[in-house]
Amino acid sequence: MFALLAAGRGLGAVTRVPRIGWVVADPVVARQVLNDGAVFTMTGEGGVGHLWTQLFGPEMAEFFGGARHVEIRTHVRDLFTEEAARTLVTRAQGAHHARLAARLRAGETVDVAGAARVLAGRLVADLLGLPSDRPDTVYARLFAAGERLASLALGTTASTHLASGTLERARAVVAEITAGVPDAYRTGGSDTLLGRCRELGLGLPMATGLATLLVIAGTETGASGTSRTVALLHDTGGQHALLADPSLRPDAVREGLRVAAPAPIIGRHVARDTVLAGRAVRAGDRVVLLVRHATNLAGPFDLHRPPPPETRQLWFGAGRHLCLGAAVARHQITAMLETVHADGRPYEITSRTPARNVLVPAYKRLLVRPAERY
Ligand code: HEM
Repeated sequence: MFALLAAGRGLGAVTRVPRIGWVVADPVVARQVLNDGAVFTMTGEGGVGHLWTQLFGPEMAEFFGGARHVEIRTHVRDLFTEEAARTLVTRAQGAHHARLAARLRAGETVDVAGAARVLAGRLVADLLGLPSDRPDTVYARLFAAGERLASLALGTTASTHLASGTLERARAVVAEITAGVPDAYRTGGSDTLLGRCRELGLGLPMATGLATLLVIAGTETGASGTSRTVALLHDTGGQHALLADPSLRPDAVREGLRVAAPAPIIGRHVARDTVLAGRAVRAGDRVVLLVRHATNLAGPFDLHRPPPPETRQLWFGAGRHLCLGAAVARHQITAMLETVHADGRPYEITSRTPARNVLVPAYKRLLVRPAERY
């Protein structure tokens, strides 16, 4: 995956790469693929739905395409509006942020990456209807289990067929992640996703698959986007402009996501012959979209950069699978930016360590404290 992203610079808009398939480096063509869900599908070799279907069975494939997918999205949409996202982030993360801000005000050093992992775990647990009043370690473990499950997908860029040993390991991690699901499914109110699954008449196995999907979709991406945005604002000096004018916060979040692009690659299966940017693409081929490369073509992080129209929100995908949690992710990053600037002073990064063997590039540790001189 990283070799592909690095090679992106030398590739044309659409290039045939041996063993991988069609690699798309251009943002406009990438959006065209995502918007044509009838031809470029998630199920079938090359799409992420193919991985999920091997893990949870053919019923799960229904979530990734067709009428069932539309029905489920429509039924849960109100849990993901701007207002619902703001309420969720405040409820699930507010107390934790208040403690972090107090520690920074007292001049302490905090690990933003570690906090972002716990906060992402708390948020997803709350949204699902799992217990949300446990100690931080419970949510750090949930996050780590999601990370382990996602890392099993490393190496599937050339084929999304999972070996039986990998499937066995994946099922063990799923059991760990979803231990609380049967209870939450039975008792969850309609303000929780598992409660909604029950209301919709989805059986427990499908609800368990969707809960796992949410843990994977919503934890590593959100945590990576949060700590990378904090680091980018520090490294570029953009945090000073943000302190002077807090109304720039939405721009900081958008630029952070554009540059970090926590879902750096998206795969699709080609369901029928078509022509893509002048190239004849055949049914059964795979398409790999280099999202991070495409969103970074506009240039480096710049708080004052007008939103580049061709990459608009591409880091959240597009079309029928456009990220359901986009507003949640934005509010989550906003909350961290408010926290690190809680006392109106800039922060400095005293140490950082990248995470290794993870699907989503992220920091393992990002130590931040109030700047001594500024
Ligand atoms: C910065 C953080 C995030 C990024 C960059 C991101 C990115 C994406 C992308 C690119 C997709 C589409 C994948 C594809 O088309 O193959 C997606 C789908 C999805 N995301 Fe996110 N995501 C983030 C955070 C979240 C959060 C916090 C949640 C939930 C709380 C979430 C829930 C979902 C769900 C449920 C889907 C599947 C939607 C569907 O298939 O209809 N995401 N995300």
